[in-house]
This record gives sequence, C-alpha cells and structure tokens, in this order.
Amino acid sequence: MRTPFIAGNWKMHKTVNEAEAFLKELLTKDLPSGVDAAICAPFIHLDRLVQATNDKVGIGAENGHFEAQGAFTGEVSIDSLSDLGVDYVIIGHSERREMFNETDESVNKKVLKALEKDVVPIVCCGETLEERENETYIEKITTQIEKAFKDVDAEDAKKIVVAYEPIWAIGTGKSATSEDANKMCQLVRETIEKTFNTEISEAVRIQYGGLVKPENIKEYMSEPHIDGALVGGASLEVESFVALLEGAHNA
Ligand code: 13P
Repeated sequence: MRTPFIAGNWKMHKTVNEAEAFLKELLTKDLPSGVDAAICAPFIHLDRLVQATNDKVGIGAENGHFEAQGAFTGEVSIDSLSDLGVDYVIIGHSERREMFNETDESVNKKVLKALEKDVVPIVCCGETLEERENETYIEKITTQIEKAFKDVDAEDAKKIVVAYEPIWAIGTGKSATSEDANKMCQLVRETIEKTFNTEISEAVRIQYGGLVKPENIKEYMSEPHIDGALVGGASLEVESFVALLEGAHNA
C-alpha cells in the first residue's frame, strides 16, 4: 500500500516570517493520520521551517544543485539541504525547466545526489499544450522518466516521488480530468516498471499537480495510479491545506 502524499509547492510566495507563522498554525490542527504532508518552500525559509516542524509535516526545497560546492553563484547544494535536515527536494519543476534551463540531464544528476544525501526527490514531469495536441506527449513523459531514473539503484528508486504536472494545467485555470491524469500517472508507472520491475513501480508514489484544490482532491485521489498531489495555489492557506489532507484521507 502506498501512503498518500500531499505536498505544497509554495514557489516564490510568503516571506520567512509568514512561512513560519503558517507552519506553527498548521501544527495546531488535528491533521489526519495515514497521509504524508510536506511543505516545499524557498531556500531561505527552510532552516526556520525545519526547526519549527514536527514529524507530521515534512519540509522540502524547491530545487537544489547536484555539485557539493563550486563557482555556482546563487545556487544551493543538495548537500546543504541535507545538512539542514530538509526531507524533500522538488526536481525539474516545469517552471525551472522552462525559465531556468533545467534539462533531463541535470534532473538526473540532482536525483542521484538527493538519493545519496537521503533527501527524497520529488521529480516533476509534464507536457506542454503543443505536445498534448500534436500527440508527442507520451514520448515526452516516457523520456523524462527514463532519463530521471537513469543509473538509479533499484532499492533507491522506490523512494522517489514523481509528480505528473501537465504544463497546460499549471496556473492556467485548466485542469486535467481525473481520468486523463490517471492515464498519465499509469504511463509513468509503466515506464518505471519497464526500467526496473513491478515491485518497484508499485512502490513509487505518483502525484498529480495542476489546479488541485479541496473541491477536486477526492476525485483525483480515487484514481488507482494517483497517490497524492503537488499543490501550488491551494497550499498557501492553512485551512485549504488541511482540507487537502482531509480529502486525501477520506478518498
Ligand atoms: P497550482 O496548484 O497552483 O496549479 O500549481 C501546480 C504546481 O505547479 C505545483 O508544483
């Protein structure tokens, strides 16, 4: 059985103080059992969040560099995230692929580094609207997954979380139907199965992301291949984040 996993991706929202206040309030709530929860926040927020949290809410970064050190102005190493006690790192979010030249190769290097440092990678994949319409999306997702998992040790592969986030459904007001999202999460699982085996593909948790909110979380979570959600906008308010966890719990 895969434990449902809801992760907030705050992107570049909230100041450090606002982030800490959110987490402190969240921890006063009666959070449902049997659902893993995490908040992924900007680098500078992480130390305080790690200090403030307990074992009910994991803390994640939104990126990390695969090199331990070097002349990479403005970057933060995954080694440093590990030192801080960060639990997760989002790797290859479409915004980073599109705006910051993240490639399948750098995604793979980051995945390998995160696994080495015991930080759980949340690897994002997803197609553009154009790829959806010209039907190259299957190849796109398959390639992204194959490259992300390249050279990963079989036992380590089980720890990876994949987030399928169609780019056309992020911040656009459109969302994939739960059936469509499930089909794509199934494709991700089948690709992992071909790369490794059924035991591993059945262990990997696959999230859907793109306009997930308290009103639709149950629908997504009722699908067999969707194990959770990576949530932007609806993770920014405590009430809505708790409602997402409850929805995942009750699905
Ligand atoms: P929204 O939930 O705001 O559509 O963002 C999705 C996303 O990009 C999560 O990583």
